[in-house]
Amino acid sequence: MQVGCQIALSRKTRMMHNPQSPRSSHRVWAPAVALALSVLAGQALAVDANSLRTRALAATCAQCHGTEGAAVAGEAMVRLAGLPEDYILSQLMAFRNGQRQATIMHQITKGYSQEQLETLAKYFGSKK
Ligand code: HEC
Repeated sequence: MQVGCQIALSRKTRMMHNPQSPRSSHRVWAPAVALALSVLAGQALAVDANSLRTRALAATCAQCHGTEGAAVAGEAMVRLAGLPEDYILSQLMAFRNGQRQATIMHQITKGYSQEQLETLAKYFGSKK
């Protein structure tokens, strides 16, 4: 999958140019730069539900919910596209805290932070 490859590649690149490596001469600036980048990334995430980071996160759901949450007609998939963002988030939270019984989602949702679940709800909520 293309998204997966891009993530793998960027991970590799980061490993090769790890700014926190003891060999780096930019050791002093690395934390400041990392902080600035994470603030920027957070802002990008807040405004863009279709950023590469968001789509990569949502791709982890595609196996069972279809690409972009669009299940194929006749398949035993649970469709997410077309559901409202609020509903998706409420269900993800209910799975996570055990309010909604599930076969698999109670386990899956425990692997994501609150922010990631909100991002996922926004992403799938924007799909028709
Ligand atoms: C291994 C398969 C699998 C994966 C991966 C998966 N789901 Fe699910 N999902 C299910 C099943 C099965 C259900 C029905 C509830 C249950 O039994 O767990 C469901 C239900 C849901 C529902 C409720 C839908 C409704 O109509 O009420 C939401 C929302 C949801 N999943 C979101 C996600 C998100 C977001 C991800 C990715 C982080 C994800 N799922 C990953 C299998 C999966």
